[in-house]
Amino acid sequence: MPRKKKTDSSNQSKVLRAPAEIQYADQLEAMGQNDKDPRPPSWKLSPRAVLTYILGGETVKAKIKRKSCEVAITKKFFGDAALVERAIVTLASERALLLVGDPGTAKSWLSEHLTAAISGDSTLTIQGTAGTTEEQTKYSWNIARIIAEGPKPENMIPSPTMIAMQSGAILRFEEITRCVPDVQDSLVSILSDKAIAIPELPEANRINAMPGFNVIATANTRDQGVNELSAALKRRFNYIHIPIVGDHKTEVKIVQQRTEELMQQYAIPVAIEPPVLDLLCRVFREMRDGKTAEGVSVKQTSTVLSTAEAISVAFESALQAHYFGDSHVTSGHIAKNILGSVVKEDLTDLGIFKEYVRIVVKQRAAEGMWKDFHKGATNVLG
Ligand SMILES: Nc1ncnc2c1ncn2[C@@H]1O[C@H](COP(=O)(O)OP(=O)(O)OP(=O)(O)O)[C@@H](O)[C@H]1O
Ligand SMILES: [Mg+2]
Repeated sequence: MPRKKKTDSSNQSKVLRAPAEIQYADQLEAMGQNDKDPRPPSWKLSPRAVLTYILGGETVKAKIKRKSCEVAITKKFFGDAALVERAIVTLASERALLLVGDPGTAKSWLSEHLTAAISGDSTLTIQGTAGTTEEQTKYSWNIARIIAEGPKPENMIPSPTMIAMQSGAILRFEEITRCVPDVQDSLVSILSDKAIAIPELPEANRINAMPGFNVIATANTRDQGVNELSAALKRRFNYIHIPIVGDHKTEVKIVQQRTEELMQQYAIPVAIEPPVLDLLCRVFREMRDGKTAEGVSVKQTSTVLSTAEAISVAFESALQAHYFGDSHVTSGHIAKNILGSVVKEDLTDLGIFKEYVRIVVKQRAAEGMWKDFHKGATNVLG
């Protein structure tokens, strides 16, 4: 059976988006060097070290590329520490983990960082779609070689599930509720027997999971009901609900940190002043909550105005300022780029945004930032 090739980290550092274990390799290495706590079988870090890696806030001494240095562990997930701790405990247990929440609440982001820290590989991933097949979750065959040589272990194409089982790693299953029931059912036996049967092979017709194997699945609440999980599968998962960031200041911090990371990745030498991001997150929060800071009721859009959408608006504004402006991001740029996030397929959202600009933004337009925002928004809205 072909084994997964090791990731070439020198090449990966040049790609558009390297997996977390490559992007944050120094932090993971530093955590590993300082980790004295017990680890579950096959885990690269102890549960305590995984928690610190996810929540950040510490600086640890380490030897990176034979040089002694201090490595700052950055905050990956902004949210309840107890929630992350429960997620880690679940992954060490015999039950799988299901992260459920609204779109853009960092379910995939958290799952990527958990697998990077636990298994050192976040790429063993199945992207669930309506077209995902049972073969993609278990195994398939190299048809040309099967015709020539018959079913042999070498002619098998293992799925990420099988590779994770053989190496005692964590499998990521994205958007599990988008998969048809047959595919979901195939997971029931994997999660309870911790094995995949291969009836086509006369010998070695069963792949057993090594200790450490587990699954993190994600599901979008907006997709729930597309293919609801069966009762049998529900029982094999511990559900953790990821809420939308509750407080304004934290959301501004997330948008600031992630936008800075994206600008670094895309080599965009632009700085966005915190008050501009504060305004962006305020607009999002007010339209999401249906209430302004002054207590005025506004209509809520049908589109989910998630933190992830706010990050995209901030990053697109930075690109616009860099390529079409003087690299100074203003609230006017934010106004011009916000429309694609607020108004998606539902055109009534356009009316809701217009009303927000007319009632709320206009009232505040005497102040500098809101003035620019109002001008930018009226320009795009026509
Ligand atoms: N609480 C948070 N902590 C850290 N990052 C966050 C948080 N909420 C949102 N983000 C950021 O939002 C972005 C999108 O997150 P992600 O793609 O993981 O969302 P998701 O919940 O998987 O959405 P979907 O359901 O649409 O797949 C990431 O860049 C992530 O850093
Ligand atoms: Mg996702």
